[in-house]
Amino acid sequence: MRTLQPEKLPRHLAIIMDGNGRWAKERMLRRIVGHRKGVETVRTVVEESSRLGIRYLTLFAFSSENWLRPKTEVRALMSLLKRYIKMEISRMMQNNIRFNIIGNRDDLPPDVNREVDAAIARTAGNSGMTLTLALSYGGRQEIIRAAGLLAADLAAGRVAQAAVDEALFDGYLFTAGMPEPDFLIRTSGEMRISNFLLWQLAYAELYFTEVNWPDFSKAELHKALCDFQARERRFGRTSDQLHKGN
Ligand code: IPE
Ligand code: IPE
Ligand code: MG
Repeated sequence: MRTLQPEKLPRHLAIIMDGNGRWAKERMLRRIVGHRKGVETVRTVVEESSRLGIRYLTLFAFSSENWLRPKTEVRALMSLLKRYIKMEISRMMQNNIRFNIIGNRDDLPPDVNREVDAAIARTAGNSGMTLTLALSYGGRQEIIRAAGLLAADLAAGRVAQAAVDEALFDGYLFTAGMPEPDFLIRTSGEMRISNFLLWQLAYAELYFTEVNWPDFSKAELHKALCDFQARERRFGRTSDQLHKGN
């Protein structure tokens, strides 16, 4: 493994965990077997990210669009999710991880919501990494929701038109209070965002790997993070400006 510079880690790592189905298909297994194997990768990546000192890890676990999948797969995913959250609480406590979710909670089955609430409550006092699962999450839906909430506050006179800026709008998103992701990883070779964190990814460094999520190892995570550390983040400025500080 290449050596990582601890001072240059992303503050907020976001991951689109993709390729569970293909991983299973390549092995003539059912898709759900790929999802189960994917949960093991989640464990590995969560623990390693926390060990490395990453402050925020956000994982795309189920999109608003994933409700369109066959009912049997949706049901299996929801049950896997529920079991994962329930099983992981003790490990989150051991690792001082704070659990959080973003997305449309109203869509989730009540039993999943119960586990989510329990995990959020149990881990609320933890001060280490914040682990956020994006569940029934869609970036456009999030922006529309935020716009609606803001419009209501404007109409009620709780917010003045002149006060509307990026920071204020940010506070209406599910991710309010979190720094925006500086690094996005997507596995399985697909090069798209698939409606993930559209607002928040504005300046994230993007990393795509052919590796399917169930095969994404600690070594793969390190490789991605090394790649991130070699990037120059210019935010519109020139390279010279960054180096000479002018
Ligand atoms: C990612 O794997 C997991 C979810 C979207 C829930 P996929 O299930 O999308 O796997 P592929 O893309 O079919 O291989
Ligand atoms: C995106 O993966 C959603 C998650 C990883 C949960 P998909 O596999 O559903 O994305 P598309 O539809 O192929 O772009
Ligand atoms: Mg996919």
